[in-house]
This record gives sequence, structure tokens and C-alpha cells, in this order.
Amino acid sequence: MAEASTVASGADARQSYSGVAKAFHWTIVLLIAYMLYNGWTADDVPREARGGVMQLHAGFGIIVLVLMAARLAWRVGHPAPALPSDLPRWQVIASRATHHGLYFLVILQPLLGLTLGITSTKSNLMPFGLFGLQAAPNNAIHHVAGLLHGLNAYLIAALVVLHILAALYHHFVRHDAVLKRMLPFVKA
Ligand code: HEM
Repeated sequence: MAEASTVASGADARQSYSGVAKAFHWTIVLLIAYMLYNGWTADDVPREARGGVMQLHAGFGIIVLVLMAARLAWRVGHPAPALPSDLPRWQVIASRATHHGLYFLVILQPLLGLTLGITSTKSNLMPFGLFGLQAAPNNAIHHVAGLLHGLNAYLIAALVVLHILAALYHHFVRHDAVLKRMLPFVKA
């Protein structure tokens, strides 16, 4: 999910991501995988356990929002290493669009989730059981936020699949360092 903002020489393209960039990337990858799984399977959980599952969903979702905000703020002062200079222009544009799209949708998703909790007319959703979110019950807004939260999950999953395919293409077809430079414990 890291972003390559510029195109430069082969030497620059081999430059690795910093430890901070890798830590943000892989922590958020794990959390999003968990959040999608947790959201899509919540209905299959026995009724008496569902409240606890949703408390975890809300809590970890808020952590995703905080991490994404921190990552975006950090990213402003720390540009990503350049893409290989011989990458076709359409691939540079597609890469940028995918990364911007992921940032946008992954920040939007917890905001929609918070809207769901705040506007709920039935249960009072409590992130990690700490505090209740139900501050302004509103059926109409709750309904729309629920639809968008469900749809956005599929958009995130689709962009993640595209992102993984692009990383594999770089490694196995182009044989460049774009995948390797984001892998933990690997020197590109
Ligand atoms: C990256 C963050 C998040 C992801 C990827 C995510 C993903 C999902 C998914 C896949 C579903 C199932 C949707 C469906 O099948 O229609 C869901 C449901 C839900 N999520 Fe999230 N979520 C996130 C953050 C949050 C947050 C922060 C909250 C609340 C604070 C929240 C509250 C809810 C609620 C209440 C539901 C159940 C909606 C319903 O029953 O209609 N989510 N989420």
C-alpha cells in the first residue's frame, strides 16, 4: 500500500523502504485482513457472542483509522522510493491511482463504521467495551452508512487484489526490486 511518487534511475528504484514505512504497511495489512474477515463472518457467529465480536471490530477499526492518519502524516515528510525509470507511463499512473485509492477507502471505511455506531437506533456499539458510540440515533443515516460500509469493503478487497497482482508482476515478470524493497527483513 505504499506509494511511489516519482520515477527515477534503476539505482534509485532499488532503494528500500524504511523500517517505519514497512512497519506501517504490514501492521495495516494484518489489521485489514482481520477486519474484512471479522466483518464478513460476524453474521455466522452465535448471537450471544456477536456483541463481543463487534466490540473487537469497532476497536480494531478505530486503530486502523489512527494508524492511517499517522501514516499519512508521516508519509508527507518521507516520500516513497522511486519506481523503475523504464516503467510504462500507464503503469505509473495505475500505481499512483491504486495507492491513492487504498489510502482514501481505508480511511473512509472506519469513518463509515463510526457513523454506523453513532447513528444506531438499536444496540450501543462499544469499541473494546470501553465506551458507547450511540450518540445520535438516526435510522436513515444508519441505513445509508451500512450500505456504503458493506460496498466499500468489496472495493477495498478489489484494490488489495490488484495491488498484490501488481507486486507479483514486478517480481516474477519484470524481475525488478519493487516487491522486495517492501518485504520485512529483506534488503532490496
Ligand atoms: C478498516 C476498517 C474496517 C473494515 C475493513 C470493516 C469491514 C467490515 C465488513 C466487511 C463488514 C460486513 C459488511 C457486510 O457484510 O455488509 C462490516 C460490518 C460492520 N462494521 Fe466494519 N469495518 C471497519 C471499521 C469499522 C469501525 C471502526 C466500526 C465502528 C466503530 C465498524 C462497524 C461495523 C458495524 C456496526 C457492522 C455491521 C453492519 C450491519 O450489521 O449491517 N466497522 N465491517
